[in-house]
Amino acid sequence: MINLDALTYAGNPQNLNGLPIAHHIFHKGDIGNIELVTDLLSKYQPRVIINFAAESHVDRSILGAEAFVQTNVLGTLRLLEASRNYWEALPASRQVEFRFLHVSTDEVYGSLLPDESPFQETTAYQPNSPYAASKASSDHLVRAFHETYELPTLVTNCSNNYGPYQFPEKLIPLMILNAVNMRELPVYGDGQNVRDWLYVEDHCTALDKVLTEGKVGETYNIGGRCELSNNEVVEQICEIIDGEVPAPTPRKTLIKYVEDRKGHDRRYAVDCSKIERELGWFPRESFSSGLMKTVRWYLTNPEWSRNVTSGKYREWLDLNYRNRA
Ligand code: TYD
Repeated sequence: MINLDALTYAGNPQNLNGLPIAHHIFHKGDIGNIELVTDLLSKYQPRVIINFAAESHVDRSILGAEAFVQTNVLGTLRLLEASRNYWEALPASRQVEFRFLHVSTDEVYGSLLPDESPFQETTAYQPNSPYAASKASSDHLVRAFHETYELPTLVTNCSNNYGPYQFPEKLIPLMILNAVNMRELPVYGDGQNVRDWLYVEDHCTALDKVLTEGKVGETYNIGGRCELSNNEVVEQICEIIDGEVPAPTPRKTLIKYVEDRKGHDRRYAVDCSKIERELGWFPRESFSSGLMKTVRWYLTNPEWSRNVTSGKYREWLDLNYRNRA
């Protein structure tokens, strides 16, 4: 396996510790560097390409959209170009095996009202944040490369992930680290926004299924069938941490309602019946078991957290949270 990663602020070589070296070759670099990608493809001759690379934090995209267009849109376009050149030059027997899997998000579908049905693969795109717009754009490019050049693509649109190694700008790891350290827990708006949570390993098994059994040119929605409000998520985190690391006051008292995110999508929910029905994939982890594993991982890996919460991270916290009344 060849891993190409630009190691921007959320990347961390420590995340690769423990991977069997013989099966894993790491290259630091950008998917938008077409010469580099072309060289890697010609050197290693991969059977599949999975595009996990993205700027993915909505709050950052609200404060500056350009990096999102650069990586998510232009980067994906260049990766598609290099992949197409590589694929077209393969012998026919290898061409039929080749897959380009593009990993995307449910946020491209926009926001749901409380009584609306979950997003299906046929739901019209209506991205609301600059992040979602950049991912929607990349999804369209992947689709276009399949329709135009017959590149054997697959697209997945997944709901909110959580689990070990997640950078603590996202809700769950941010709240875990703040709660462990008895810091304020900043909940945006009224905390009634709903997300559909999926444990990261369940996402990985879904991607594996799509890669090996998915139908070329198709999109598969992936979700946890686990809709929870942010209040429910934060309260569960507080309860687990109170149990693991008792404190004089319950962590719930640290919750602070702060100014809402601009254009904050109210609800995401994914209808994953297509991947269940056609590929036989189901999430294995419940939210409480996945959250317990996640909290314990952060509790037993304080060094990892210390390393990623450096000066740049603190600058981000200051930028994002200082003006939220
Ligand atoms: P996030 O993890 O940023 O994922 P996304 O915006 O892609 O769904 O946020 C999840 C939810 O948590 C979202 O409704 C915003 C909310 N949130 C807070 O209330 N406080 C925070 O400090 C953060 C980072 C998120």
